[in-house]
Amino acid sequence: MRRRIVLAGFGNVGREFARLLLENRSELTREFGLDASIVAILTARHGSVENRAGIDVRKALRLADAGVSLESCGRGIRERSPEFIRRARADVVIEVTPLRIAPRQVAYDHVLAALRTGKHVITANKGPVVYHYRQLRELARKNHVGFRYEGTVMDGAPVFNLFQEALRGARVESFEGILNSTTNLVLSEIEAGHTYADGVEAARRIGFLETDPSMDLDGWDATVKACLLATVLMAGRLRPERVPRQGVSSLAPEAARDALAAGKRLKQVARGWRDGRAVKASVSIEAIGPDHPLFSVNGTSSSLLVRTNMLKEFQIIERDPGLRQTAFAVYADLIAIHEGRLSP
Ligand SMILES: NC(=O)c1ccc[n+]([C@@H]2O[C@H](COP(=O)([O-])OP(=O)(O)OC[C@H]3O[C@@H](n4cnc5c(N)ncnc54)[C@H](OP(=O)(O)O)[C@@H]3O)[C@@H](O)[C@H]2O)c1
Repeated sequence: MRRRIVLAGFGNVGREFARLLLENRSELTREFGLDASIVAILTARHGSVENRAGIDVRKALRLADAGVSLESCGRGIRERSPEFIRRARADVVIEVTPLRIAPRQVAYDHVLAALRTGKHVITANKGPVVYHYRQLRELARKNHVGFRYEGTVMDGAPVFNLFQEALRGARVESFEGILNSTTNLVLSEIEAGHTYADGVEAARRIGFLETDPSMDLDGWDATVKACLLATVLMAGRLRPERVPRQGVSSLAPEAARDALAAGKRLKQVARGWRDGRAVKASVSIEAIGPDHPLFSVNGTSSSLLVRTNMLKEFQIIERDPGLRQTAFAVYADLIAIHEGRLSP
């Protein structure tokens, strides 16, 4: 079955997803009966293009990697991106534009336009989900379309799938995690004797730094992830702007090495917990000792420790993820929607 895809965003994640599709085209058809065809690509500064017969993805990747316009891949799109999504002849919209901290944002307009016109949505962009989760989930249900967002919190590691499918019936009491790879990498680099700037550059080189680096370095990314987990898994109602937040940019240069000298390590810990009927969250940089389950989570690795009323405490660790793992989350969501599993 042919699934026509609009790719909103063709940066690190969008391109890696396109590569994954290219590499696995025959397996997707053979194993899943899925013929995934990218029929439009939307960008901010590199042109937006539509080709109803299917865009030549190899060519699009070549042009994007060279930093030139994509418009020779088909018909240039002139209208605003949400309008295009509304009228597009497509089955699935994949939203991978940059994270923004604001309820009004173009990514939300993209998702809304898609769901309202009966298109499935997959996103790795936390922004629309953290601010509008309930509305988007209800809209998707009403219109019998998919709304999946596995790549938003731990790249390819299944967090939402795990809780909303395998662990249905278990009540999440609290969680703590290392959820921002850039921050963890910067802290590991400083411990290894490098500078803060070296750490940031290392994150940029592997495509992990957010489009706006302050999203990672000022703690926004981890805060949005904590809010997302608290909203989806614990039915909380949190706004990232109101959650206590600490980013690695606020640290004194010697702090990580001082902690190490004391046998501890600095980690940015994102927490969510119940407080009476409310759900709360916080993100702070803390010195933790070797007995803490997050102590050995290094570099770009991330981890989530969860306490539930059924399974007590358990931990998910994703070791050294790269862009491929985020792209895989989108890929796995596409297969799920194709198979009729519309929400996690
Ligand atoms: N990178 C990661 O490891 C990772 C992991 C998990 C989740 N995510 C999330 O995935 C999303 C994408 O991240 P990324 O690293 O791929 O970002 P990126 O490399 O900066 O790419 C963003 C893409 O979105 C396009 N874009 C920006 N504004 C747009 C608009 N209004 N309409 C259409 N396209 C627009 C950009 O166009 P131009 O090319 O013209 O600039 C670019 O192609 C973010 O929300 C991020 O939080 C990223």
